[in-house]
Amino acid sequence: MSSQTSNVPAVDDIAGLERAALENMFVGMSNHAQLAEEGGPIILTEASGIRVKDIHGKEYIDGISGMYFRNVGHGREEIARAIYEQLSTVSMNVYAGVTPKIIQLAAKIAELTPGDLNRTFFSQGGSDANETALKMAQAYHVRTGDKGRYKVISRRYSYHGATYGTMWLGGHPGFPRTDYQPKPANVVHVPQPDPYRCELGGTTAEDCAIRCAQAIEDAILFEGPDSVSALIGEPISQPLGGVVPHESYWPRVREICDKYGVLLIFDEVITGFGRLGTWFGADFVGVTPDILTFAKGVTSGYWPLGGAVATNNIADIFAGGPEKTFSHMYTYSAHPGGGAAGMAALEIMERENLVQNARQRGEQLSESLNDIMDRHPIVGDARGVGLIQGLELVKDRETKEHFDPSVGLNARLTEKLIDRGIWIRVPAFILPLAPPLIITADEIDELTSAIDESLGEVEKELGLT
Ligand SMILES: Cc1ncc(COP(=O)(O)O)c(C=O)c1O
Repeated sequence: MSSQTSNVPAVDDIAGLERAALENMFVGMSNHAQLAEEGGPIILTEASGIRVKDIHGKEYIDGISGMYFRNVGHGREEIARAIYEQLSTVSMNVYAGVTPKIIQLAAKIAELTPGDLNRTFFSQGGSDANETALKMAQAYHVRTGDKGRYKVISRRYSYHGATYGTMWLGGHPGFPRTDYQPKPANVVHVPQPDPYRCELGGTTAEDCAIRCAQAIEDAILFEGPDSVSALIGEPISQPLGGVVPHESYWPRVREICDKYGVLLIFDEVITGFGRLGTWFGADFVGVTPDILTFAKGVTSGYWPLGGAVATNNIADIFAGGPEKTFSHMYTYSAHPGGGAAGMAALEIMERENLVQNARQRGEQLSESLNDIMDRHPIVGDARGVGLIQGLELVKDRETKEHFDPSVGLNARLTEKLIDRGIWIRVPAFILPLAPPLIITADEIDELTSAIDESLGEVEKELGLT
């Protein structure tokens, strides 16, 4: 729209900003009519540590680190300064050029990741990091003479991105794909080894892991091993609140992939950079993938950056004459700002021992959530590890039945948490928890007390206590 008087609100015009946000924006996974009913999207004006403040001055604990990215917490001026200094000198590459900080970051990632995961292709976020990995896997097979390998196996209840090439991988209960049919022909789904609801009827975590790993081998055989390029999975899966498979699962999956020449891709967009109490999920599960993707935590969200890091075996296939080149690029790959932000964020992670803090606070959080489960019938399961955890909410613990959506359980619980100054939007039947890795013991108590009270209030409203 254009008119003589500008429609652009001043930054301190609260009503104008709220109006323009509703009139002029798509806000991710929300719609403007629904947002209008809720009073509009949260508009942030300040953020520090684990807390954010909205335009009305109300403060919240950021319960899921923005969107699982704010590992070093909000308001880190040293990262902002590093970005400023970088952009004030060289603000962008020339064609086929790189800058010192992004080289340092690639070397740092090679140092931190396990095994010989040594060569990174940088992207802008997680979806395009996974696109990169899928293309790299297929191109690797082509280069090695396996031209028919194009299928990708993923696990239900995983999330790998929003682009056309990634959205049909996995399946997030909160992100339906009904508008985006058909499912591409290269996508194959297998079960998630969720010990609480083992799709294949496993009665223990180990039994579930054995069955779900076998389902991968069965799928490879059914599809034809010569047609399968890769299996992609998060070592610990977020959409169900942190599904931790039995320890036998990933080593067995690694063996199966090796047996059939299928590449293993770990999507560490959330689990990378400390969230599990280890630098990477690969360390946590003791398995090195062929390609590892990352985003979010690498810069703690201070710059949109992701990447796919490949082992020497994969990367070296793309060296030689021009025909060997990995034929892939994004304009903003390896942006200098990402190098500066990443190096500054990882320096904070190391200086403040945040990986260790994630492990210790994760243990505390786990204890508190188990305690909450003991006292609240609405909680069917408490799961997760490190600072990626969650509660599964059920109507009946025996049958594990979920509440009917008409009950509006997630909206009710979200509202109670917001009233108590906790910013967690409860999607479907999982209450997710993934605070910044800087969280203190007292702050964990503050967070879990608010959850405890909120669950109690919802149970009362629903006549369950
Ligand atoms: C495990 C995982 N992979 C990929 C993505 C996609 O990342 P992005 O939203 O940065 O494209 C996400 C986003 O939440 C994620 O959680």
